[in-house]
Amino acid sequence: MSSDTPSHVAHRRHVLLALASVTFGSHGLAQAQQSGSAAASSPYEPRRGQPGKDVIWIPTPDVPVLRMLRLAHVTPQDYVIDLGSGDGKIVLAAAREGTRAHGVEYNPEMVELSKRRAQEAGLQERATFEKADIFEMDFARATVITMYLLPELNLRLRPKILSLKPGTRVVSHDFRMGDWKPEETSSMGSSSVHLWIVPANVGGKWQLRWSGQTPIELTMDQTFQQFKGKAVFDKMETTLRETQLRGDAVQFAFTDARGVLRQFNGKVSDDRIEGTVEGVGAGARAQPFTAQRMGEAPAINGATTSRLDEVQTLGDQ
Ligand SMILES: C[S@@+](CC[C@H](N)C(=O)[O-])C[C@H]1O[C@@H](n2cnc3c(N)ncnc32)[C@H](O)[C@@H]1O
Repeated sequence: MSSDTPSHVAHRRHVLLALASVTFGSHGLAQAQQSGSAAASSPYEPRRGQPGKDVIWIPTPDVPVLRMLRLAHVTPQDYVIDLGSGDGKIVLAAAREGTRAHGVEYNPEMVELSKRRAQEAGLQERATFEKADIFEMDFARATVITMYLLPELNLRLRPKILSLKPGTRVVSHDFRMGDWKPEETSSMGSSSVHLWIVPANVGGKWQLRWSGQTPIELTMDQTFQQFKGKAVFDKMETTLRETQLRGDAVQFAFTDARGVLRQFNGKVSDDRIEGTVEGVGAGARAQPFTAQRMGEAPAINGATTSRLDEVQTLGDQ
């Protein structure tokens, strides 16, 4: 049985929430006070399940940490931001592989601990940390986001994540992002790791041109990384097929007025798409095409809002 079945995920969620209620309760408070008085004599040691601003601290185990970096295809050219970085282990793992990484953590003691660990490992140039609230900071600089939060928190972050630069990869330990389907999910033991890629906005009306053809009007309707659409020419309209969007790389195809299947491969840059078009079986070489958006880009469906019932109805968060 896959480890990402609703019952496994419900169990993990239950553990996180149960731990939260224990640590936030009076027993947890007493423990926190004890550890506070001990802190004066010994270096700060975090306690698994200790309260955090919006979610408790539980570290991601080593195997899922590495898998998060692999799924996101992290390279030294990336800039990784871990949202709620705890003791810094994801940031340190990325830095160990030569990538610059930054942890954002609300608990100042955890931030100091992470900085100390980076220093001890000689990684302080690449592994940096700041004390901040993930809901108030700007993480536009990230090319990769990592997180181990809760489904509700992922949903609250989703509009901001979807406004990041197209192509930004997002990996989450255990929890998903409502109706936004991951590109890939890896399961290992009781953990799972999900990958999303921030899509470019291809919604709205476009004017498509390629060599010598009368311009064709395209209309695209996008929900997260999926889109459907139609092409209008010769007093008819036809649906787009083979649609795919990965970051700013877009593909679609349709059968033209002569009956040739035209396959388009392009890159989206704001209101313009540039790329090549091939005619399947037409014998001609690929030719350049451009598409220019006409009017405003509509918001991507689902991108600006999130409904808490997305978490409940899916049952596999
Ligand atoms: C489940 S732990 C994950 C730690 C680390 N990312 C990992 O995977 O090992 C979540 C962390 O988020 C921190 N946190 C909770 N709410 C936060 C907020 N609003 N801003 C920043 N950090 C927060 C907690 O203190 C905790 O360290």
